[in-house]
Amino acid sequence: MQNKNKWVVTLCFMAFVSLGVAAVKAPQERNLKVLPKDISDQKLDSIMETYNKALGVKCEFCHVKQKVYPGNIDYRSDAEPMKENAREMMRMTIEINKNHFYFNKDTPPEYLNTITCMTCHRGEPFPPEH
Ligand code: HEC
Ligand code: HEC
Repeated sequence: MQNKNKWVVTLCFMAFVSLGVAAVKAPQERNLKVLPKDISDQKLDSIMETYNKALGVKCEFCHVKQKVYPGNIDYRSDAEPMKENAREMMRMTIEINKNHFYFNKDTPPEYLNTITCMTCHRGEPFPPEH
């Protein structure tokens, strides 16, 4: 009987510890489906800056504001549909570079930049079709 109680206590303790770890870890995990998960904050920021420049937009074009603190942006959220459109464009751009301009094999294909958003967009969110 006593042994059984010890087990229950131990199991509850383990459950609380793993829940606690999950709660601490969850907000830090990035919601990346195209870019490498191990990307540095610096690299991520510099890539995002190129999107602003290439499309002539602000970060809010693809990212929604936080519900609780509307002064801040919720970068992990996928609530802004434009973010998924942008992912499609990122996949296309990576494919073009990987298939046609993959000269430097030391660089991961996600970071090749022979063809970039700017190549087509030139500061326009919706490049005109000619
Ligand atoms: C053209 C659309 C677009 C613009 C503009 C844009 N982003 Fe993003 N951002 C994305 C997409 C798409 C992802 C997710 C990439 C993926 O899935 O690999 C992302 C991901 C992020 C993430 C990672 C969030 C996480 O999951 O942890 C951060 C941080 C971020 N963007 C910051 C910015 C900042 C800061 C700006 C403005 C300087 C900006 N973004 C402008 C499309 C955009
Ligand atoms: C090969 C040319 C080309 C490249 C490279 C390119 N785009 Fe686009 N993009 C377009 C065209 C053309 C449209 C307009 C499509 C339309 O109006 O239906 C567009 C539209 C968009 C849109 C508006 C939503 C949509 O799907 O129509 C977003 C957001 C976007 N691009 C983001 C990006 C980002 C971010 C990059 C770089 C990772 C990028 N694009 C690279 C040609 C390109």
